[in-house]
Amino acid sequence: MTDISIPNITLNNGVTIPQLGFGVFQVPDEQTTEVVLEALKAGYRSIDTAAVYGNEGGVGKALAQTDIPREQLFITSKVWNSDQGYESTLKAFDETMSKLGLDYLDMYLIHWPTPEKKLYVETWKALEELYAQKKVRVIGVSNFQPGHLEDLINQSSVTPAVNQVEVHPAMQNRNVIAADREFGIATEAWSPLAKGEVLGEKPIQDIADKYGKTPAQVVIRWHLQEGRIVIPKSVTPARIAENLDVFDFQLTAEDMKSIDGLERGYRTGPHPDQFN
Ligand SMILES: NC(=O)c1ccc[n+]([C@@H]2O[C@H](COP(=O)([O-])OP(=O)(O)OC[C@H]3O[C@@H](n4cnc5c(N)ncnc54)[C@H](OP(=O)(O)O)[C@@H]3O)[C@@H](O)[C@H]2O)c1
Repeated sequence: MTDISIPNITLNNGVTIPQLGFGVFQVPDEQTTEVVLEALKAGYRSIDTAAVYGNEGGVGKALAQTDIPREQLFITSKVWNSDQGYESTLKAFDETMSKLGLDYLDMYLIHWPTPEKKLYVETWKALEELYAQKKVRVIGVSNFQPGHLEDLINQSSVTPAVNQVEVHPAMQNRNVIAADREFGIATEAWSPLAKGEVLGEKPIQDIADKYGKTPAQVVIRWHLQEGRIVIPKSVTPARIAENLDVFDFQLTAEDMKSIDGLERGYRTGPHPDQFN
């Protein structure tokens, strides 16, 4: 499977990111090394972790063991809510880097806006500093609503390159995606499979049967054809490979529309306005 060629998306600063990556939320640290090595073997090159996942160390061990050249990898991590603020973000970044064992990071994100804290602009200044020092190739945000984006951009010199938000057939987040597009920000879909909860939906199953693919492959294809970056997670080797085997079929406009019809405003995670 290592010959699979994953398309790249060019971000607003010219850096490219693989459109399909691998997430490690809720993978225990001690299992993360083998899971990440499995994903790299399958052909993934982009890995999404976060300080709060508690498994940056496990990711770091996998990166130390792989013989894939560093420049072919795209590693993302995120600053956690309790570390927001200028100095505390710089400190959190150093801890992240020491756990990952890297001398530069590909992408660093503010994990949640936590609007009640009123610290995301200060936190962003720290990310701008890390970017200026070339310790990070891409800086971005996660879970930012259109109002948070506008507020941040009005007070900053660097526009976020990516907004990583919850997107799947049952929660399509169209207003956030429209705002991202307006600001030139790429949307990255987290919980792209709704944590597996949409895979039994009849329209998805019917489309999967039509192409001889699985429901997960159909949903990943739907994200890719919408132009989003997508980071499904699995600890199961067969699924890790399955989720990457999505480049030999194409959904029709009618298939896409039928998946669009599954929108029901269903969040697997908290609403960004209320999470502090
Ligand atoms: N920025 C944020 O706030 C935020 C929040 C949540 C997630 N994320 C990121 O997004 C990534 C993905 O989201 P997620 O982990 O929440 O959920 P997800 O990728 O939507 O779904 C993962 C779940 O689906 C199952 N699954 C995966 N592939 C499958 C397949 N082919 N067939 C059937 N079931 C399958 C997995 O099971 P097994 O693992 O048991 O195989 C797991 O239970 C995370 O890992 C993380 O990197 C970011």
